[in-house]
Amino acid sequence: MLNNKKILVGITGGIAAYKTIELIRHFKKANAEVRVVLTPAAEAFVTPLTLQAISANAVSNSLLDPQAELAMGHIELAKWADLVVIAPASADFIARLRAGMANDLLSTLCLATASPILLAPAMNQQMFKQIATQENLAVLANRGVQMIGPNSGFQACGDVGAGRMSEASEIFQAVCEHFGYSQDLQDLTVTITAGPTREAIDPVRYISNHSSGKMGFAIANAFAQRGAKVNLIAGPVNLVTPDKVNRIDVKSAREMAQQAVEFAQKSSIFIGCAAVADYRMAEVASQKIKKTDGSDELILKLVKNPDIIASVANLSQNRPFTVGFAAETQDVAHYAKDKLKRKNLDLICANDVSGGQVFGQDQNSLQLFWQNSEKILPLADKTKLAETLAEEIITHYRSKNKENK
Ligand code: C5P
Repeated sequence: MLNNKKILVGITGGIAAYKTIELIRHFKKANAEVRVVLTPAAEAFVTPLTLQAISANAVSNSLLDPQAELAMGHIELAKWADLVVIAPASADFIARLRAGMANDLLSTLCLATASPILLAPAMNQQMFKQIATQENLAVLANRGVQMIGPNSGFQACGDVGAGRMSEASEIFQAVCEHFGYSQDLQDLTVTITAGPTREAIDPVRYISNHSSGKMGFAIANAFAQRGAKVNLIAGPVNLVTPDKVNRIDVKSAREMAQQAVEFAQKSSIFIGCAAVADYRMAEVASQKIKKTDGSDELILKLVKNPDIIASVANLSQNRPFTVGFAAETQDVAHYAKDKLKRKNLDLICANDVSGGQVFGQDQNSLQLFWQNSEKILPLADKTKLAETLAEEIITHYRSKNKENK
């Protein structure tokens, strides 16, 4: 989400510094580049070694260190940053920032940077209330310095009041919003099925398909990045779970159906991206099926699997906005529109899988069909395509909700 954004994290002296370690992990997971600068007082609370390991970069803590200046000088560092985040920002540091001091590396960087600065103040409630601090913060806000928090509550010193540093997740959210990535879907729960299902023939063999699960995982990621609660019901796939996604692993269609119907009823949106096996064995052999010498044929009796998405779309209570996928090898639009009606879906996303394209690939294009309209999402990386699709789904979900009100 913060792909290649350069974030300079300044840590000043305060017990809340331990939360900054988690904040840096959030930044790293979101693919940001992070460099950490410590004031001398901060080193009493967190060590440069910990921060170096977490940020994957050398930590700077001195203005007059010839070695550090050789690696990346303070002016270079000030120019490097897209954003300076100071967490925790102590009362002393805030005062020095307001005065325009340059008496340590961090204050010098703040003076030397043309980039925006975000402060997460943290201090004793009385120090925060103090007119001097309030004046300093007001002046800084006037100059365009951004602020998050502080929160109210119990303080490490035993006091109760405003002065606790915002949580790492709150600061992370503020930074995402600063870069234009909103967390606007926090009230939404989305359930997604992804990947193939695996239907046992006997203890060693199964029926399955070529679905990689990449599209479903990318959609889960797109919603989670915008703050939605995401349940991802995954068949057997070889993929890393996207950040902040609740993954439920299943194998067979019946296992997937059970989980999907349960989670769907607690969701606003259900997206059936899985390539569910249409049939399973009428009876799974309890022992490995042996080759028989007398015959060149083996006949397996299959029975139909439950149609998961149709069960969800036809829920009489708590029916979510339901989105299906149609992988077709011919007459894509015709079959997709037919499925939209037959399965009672709100939207169907069709893709042409003739010639093995799409399965396992990193790119895809989609044709979207609603009851009254259609739209083409052109070929793009599945990550990008998933973001565009999430936006389309949200727009239609919201307009349907408005109509129903
Ligand atoms: O397999 P079919 O083309 O009918 O799949 C269309 C949609 O139905 C997909 O969204 C797929 O996830 C869903 N489906 C399902 N349960 C099945 C078969 C398909 O949920 N048994």
